[in-house]
Amino acid sequence: MTPNEIRQKFLDFFKSKDHKIIPSASLIPENDPSVLFNTAGMQPLVPYLLGQKHPMGTRLCDAQKCVRTGDIDDVGDNRHLTFFEMLGNWSLGDYFKEEAILYSFQFLTDEKVGLGLNKDRIYVTVFEGDENAPRDEEAFNIWKKYLPENRIYFLPAKNNWWSAGDNGPCGPDTEIFYDPNETPLGDITHDEFVKADDEGRVIEIWNNVFMQYEKKSGIVVGKLAQHNVDTGMGLERIVMVKQGVKTVFDTDLFVSILEKIKELSNVRDEKIERIIADHIRTTVFMIGDGAIPSNAGAGYVLRRIIRRAIRFGDKIGMKEKDLLLLSDIVIANYSVAYSELDKNKNLIKIEIEKEESKFRETLERGLKEFEKGTDPFVLFTTYGFPIELTEELAKEKGVKIDRVGFNKKMEEHQKLSQTASAGMFKGGLANHNEKTIKLHTAHHLLLAGLQNVIDKNIKQRGSNITEERLRMDFMFDRKLTDEEKKKVEDWVNDKIQRGLNVVRKEMPLLEAEKIGAEMEFGAKYPDIVSLYFVEDEKGEAISKEFCGGPHITNTSELGVFKIQKEEASSAGVRRIKAVLE
Ligand code: SER
Repeated sequence: MTPNEIRQKFLDFFKSKDHKIIPSASLIPENDPSVLFNTAGMQPLVPYLLGQKHPMGTRLCDAQKCVRTGDIDDVGDNRHLTFFEMLGNWSLGDYFKEEAILYSFQFLTDEKVGLGLNKDRIYVTVFEGDENAPRDEEAFNIWKKYLPENRIYFLPAKNNWWSAGDNGPCGPDTEIFYDPNETPLGDITHDEFVKADDEGRVIEIWNNVFMQYEKKSGIVVGKLAQHNVDTGMGLERIVMVKQGVKTVFDTDLFVSILEKIKELSNVRDEKIERIIADHIRTTVFMIGDGAIPSNAGAGYVLRRIIRRAIRFGDKIGMKEKDLLLLSDIVIANYSVAYSELDKNKNLIKIEIEKEESKFRETLERGLKEFEKGTDPFVLFTTYGFPIELTEELAKEKGVKIDRVGFNKKMEEHQKLSQTASAGMFKGGLANHNEKTIKLHTAHHLLLAGLQNVIDKNIKQRGSNITEERLRMDFMFDRKLTDEEKKKVEDWVNDKIQRGLNVVRKEMPLLEAEKIGAEMEFGAKYPDIVSLYFVEDEKGEAISKEFCGGPHITNTSELGVFKIQKEEASSAGVRRIKAVLE
């Protein structure tokens, strides 16, 4: 079976079980500013898992494009990938454990409607229970209908509880594993199974999450109004199992790309070949969904991936523009399932070509700067020099670079450009829901209000936003009067009622300083910064702040602004707590 056939078979199987096939959402989330890319099949469906009605009904299935770059440095081994497809079936308050398990088992093992895998090579795990939810005897008993009891293992939340991050739908899961070894493992004990999993001798192929609970700020707070099923099966892995090969790179998904790489290069290096194959696939899909190489956000991740591919290509003797030949193969392989790739073929190739020539230009200039002993962080931000490259060059020359200092500067840079905060690269949903985003925009308006109504020299000294309220510390040496507070509120509410645009811009640090944008006290900024402006009807900035976002796009979304409290925080510093009603 080819990958395209396996994907289609999955969708057809669930269609026959009354599921509606929905298209993959874009890799770049539309309504979720907390992540740069979809990292799981469930991400675009979160509102529906939480109870919103889906236009296509309560039974859905899809193949969802996903990107996870948290493990980018591990790509090149036999299993890590930055792009993958997640096959999923969904019950939104419809069927639950009984059908979910039956469907999974049938699809995997049935010769006709499924993949016809050997059931003697299947092992499953279920949730052993904790303070949040009971031991999943129900799933265990259902599985017993299909598999011998001694191949069903109870494991703790670490293994069998799934959530996308600290907030949102979650629940216990049951995971399905496959034994790909020539000599089957056969009956193994609980401990032997755990060991086999650790050592990669059994492969997790499918996760069924029984999403019945909700997490807030990392704590399970209770049950959802409806029970859901969220399943995820990585296409690359299931293809590997079905095709009986040892790594995802030996599947049809990669073979043609790897062959072309071998043809285009003159040095054999399996690891590098895999990295390039992985990165070109991710590049094609990202641009196909509208990402453009840049210095912030999704575009920054894309830039990093393209430049990595070029650099590794150089090492094995690939030439300028060879990546374009690889992109042709990816587009051809995937156009059946993802017509957007064919549609955007020209754009994809133009962007890759542009980014390559830009990189090669800066590479030359960067090399000269490197010779002069320029700081690695400046090499990175101004010349697009990946730190690994600087490190390699330094090694060749026998000089040391300050990696700790670089990392520190990078952290600040990334926090600002909103690209790689741990949660984002790791793929968790950060704590950025709608409420906190609105309060964040209100926070900017409050500072501008204080400056306009009370004293134009007021500077912010700290901030903190929860879902309930915003808190701002600012330098000022006396209490505000009730009348002043009212005036600030009115100033902010006037801006809300006028429905003003909130706009993000990137510019060189020097320029941002020159126009007097508000900076965070004590913060260090990179050479290129991100700013948020609230603009009046004429496009004049009434607020401009150094900020990585996220923000809403128009102030009309905010509601009514109210100051709840104004008090002393420390000598010369006042503290305001405010809400949106
Ligand atoms: N949400 C689960 C996962 O990503 C199942 O789809 O593994």
